[in-house]
Amino acid sequence: MPVTVLIGAQWGDEGKGKIIDALAPSLQMVVRYQGGPNAGHTVIVNGHKTVLHQVPTGILHAGVACLISPGVLLDPWELMAETTMLQEQGVDLERLRISPSCHLIMPWHRALDRAREKAAGAGAIGTTGRGMGPCAMDKAGRRGLRLGDLLDTRRRSVVGDGLACANEELERLGSEPLQLDEVEEACAAAALALRPFVADTRPLLHGVLDKGGRVLMEGAQGAMLDLDWGTWPYVTSTHPSAGGACTGGGVPMRQVDQVIGILKVYATRVGNGPFPTEFAPGPFADTFRQHAGEFGATTGRPRRCGWFDAVAARYACQLNGFTDLVLTKLDVLDGQDEVRAAVAYELDGHVHSQMPEDLRLLEGPVNPQWRSFPGWRDSAQATHWQELPAEARTYLGWLEEDLGCPVRWVSNGPERRSLLQRA
Ligand code: IMP
Repeated sequence: MPVTVLIGAQWGDEGKGKIIDALAPSLQMVVRYQGGPNAGHTVIVNGHKTVLHQVPTGILHAGVACLISPGVLLDPWELMAETTMLQEQGVDLERLRISPSCHLIMPWHRALDRAREKAAGAGAIGTTGRGMGPCAMDKAGRRGLRLGDLLDTRRRSVVGDGLACANEELERLGSEPLQLDEVEEACAAAALALRPFVADTRPLLHGVLDKGGRVLMEGAQGAMLDLDWGTWPYVTSTHPSAGGACTGGGVPMRQVDQVIGILKVYATRVGNGPFPTEFAPGPFADTFRQHAGEFGATTGRPRRCGWFDAVAARYACQLNGFTDLVLTKLDVLDGQDEVRAAVAYELDGHVHSQMPEDLRLLEGPVNPQWRSFPGWRDSAQATHWQELPAEARTYLGWLEEDLGCPVRWVSNGPERRSLLQRA
């Protein structure tokens, strides 16, 4: 059983890119199976930062084949910019293949995402503005455009209908309509640039599996943003949960033998929606965000920060069946006198140690029940697990026990080398 699924176990931005990069030398293939240009996976090597949005993180390792499978909502123009950036870095893109079944984020999807968010005012989701929701609506409504359609000039003719329909709504919402000739020109350029990458990903994936090669399914966003299981409606429009790897990636369930959950040792969320452990606005929250570098890799937006939420993490563990956990950003908590974690929520007059049945209850007042741990210093200096401060190891040990899943690695700095394997 040669498949690892790696996903974010919180609200995204857990540091998945770095962990995939660390695992890549032992892999034959990395597959992106959901999400789209809303993702930002960061890898830092010798101080040089690369942010990948749609191309799988494995591309930075020679010899690792990379696929973008049908569950991804693909923005062809963002992808062209990303492939150009990688080519300029000397990355070999011969290893990248994209399914013709990927639904495309068209220019009007981006425009609609922004116009709808603006019109929603205080009720906005706080999306990345990358067109995910409108594209997913067309996909589910079975009228979208797929990458294969872009390459076929006859099938591409539906662009006119899609644009006309979107323009009506854009005008109604007070936004500028888009011009058909400009969109058609952009489509022709994208078709030309992306044609060499397009291939049926199914035989490529199964070819590697049949030979016993190890494949990693690279999740984007996080379990709490899952369309079905997240804090709906403040969620993304695809399925970041482990199950998404089977539907979006084409992996048979029985091939999966490892599900890795990535968790930060604290919590963040970007966009709107409930976040029970969020720090109260003020100097502590601002200093923490600045020190932790918690700004969106895709949008640059300041992320909301808070203490670790064990209730949400237990929920993610239960739904995704993690076999291994990786805890990231341990060094960010260096120097805190006290470290906290929410072990239950008090809401509606009841104490909940598990997520309530209706996650919308979290939109009301929630009183987290805290557990407090002594803080630590200098975890960033550790080069082996045993060198971690005793207080940090106590905190990690508690997390492991509470979540009922082994912690295999801890990341204690942004660089590739700052990753400690469990002793
Ligand atoms: P969308 O995916 O752009 O539609 O945004 C829906 C929600 O998911 C918003 O709260 C976004 O901030 C959040 N989101 C989308 N992608 C990411 C990500 O890569 N990291 C963290 N949050 C994300």
